[in-house]
Amino acid sequence: MNKSILIIGACGQIGTELTLKLREINGANQVIASDIKEGNKELMQSGPFEFINAMDYNSIEKIIEKYAINEVYLMAAMLSATGEKYPAKAWELNMNSLFNVLNIAKEGKIKKLFWPSSMAVFGPSTPKENTPQETIMEPTTVYGISKQTGERWCEYYFNKYGVDVRSIRYPGVISWRTNPGGGTTDYAVEIYHEALLKGEYTSFLKKETKLPMMYMDDALEATIKIMDAAPETIKIRSSYNLAAISFTPEEIAAEIKKEIPEFKISYNPDFRQTIADSWPKSIDDSRARKDWNWNHTFDLKKTSEIMLENLRLKYNLP
Ligand code: SER
Repeated sequence: MNKSILIIGACGQIGTELTLKLREINGANQVIASDIKEGNKELMQSGPFEFINAMDYNSIEKIIEKYAINEVYLMAAMLSATGEKYPAKAWELNMNSLFNVLNIAKEGKIKKLFWPSSMAVFGPSTPKENTPQETIMEPTTVYGISKQTGERWCEYYFNKYGVDVRSIRYPGVISWRTNPGGGTTDYAVEIYHEALLKGEYTSFLKKETKLPMMYMDDALEATIKIMDAAPETIKIRSSYNLAAISFTPEEIAAEIKKEIPEFKISYNPDFRQTIADSWPKSIDDSRARKDWNWNHTFDLKKTSEIMLENLRLKYNLP
């Protein structure tokens, strides 16, 4: 059967690149991008686009019927930092959008669903190094609480109603095409832009704050891999730990200095420091590696080289 895919939240950081990648693989017309706002030119010009409010069940259902969609990727969410400013709104968006697609799947209107979770499901009482798949989870951010709750509901819909929902706990994702928005790991993208444009960057996290991160292409690879895997290989129906690299602001700055020797970093931690301090420093993702052959490709050095090279081109810098 031909895949007919709907991406909800296609204009965000991961949604944009996921849409482009899925269009490359499946053909542009098989992949419908949707969001409440328009995306960048590349996204809008590369295939079909529909306006969808992820909190509105009827508007999702209408588009699913219109294009005979069989797979949905729900990428719309309010992330950790913005979520702390608007807790009620974050809860409403993150939970209602998930229930909408879970219920659509339960009614048999789609065959498969991808929903991203996050390392934010962990909290201050979780073991920080090599955080296991199953461990203490007491998240302290609204975003983390919504992702943990969402994981429970995904597993529930799989067990109770046979909904084929698949999920991974993304670490911070680093990319140059589209900016992240409202996350605690956003510094690891901003730093490259400002290094090139200003030669300096003030980090909102302390220099020794180590967090799990991943280059975008690895995140896309994992997403597509888990969705393509045979259903019986998906042994975890809440969400899989996923990891690639871990580094601190000081370490990423040192990597940038190798290419831009005059680059300067300073530190001015804000409320996002508390969020970062509650998260793991490194993650054990051996279950994903074993169950559906996940493997990462990009280390910090390679990530930095690609980021600087592509942003130089984007900004027309020598
Ligand atoms: N990148 C996310 C955030 O910082 C973590 O999932 O909120």
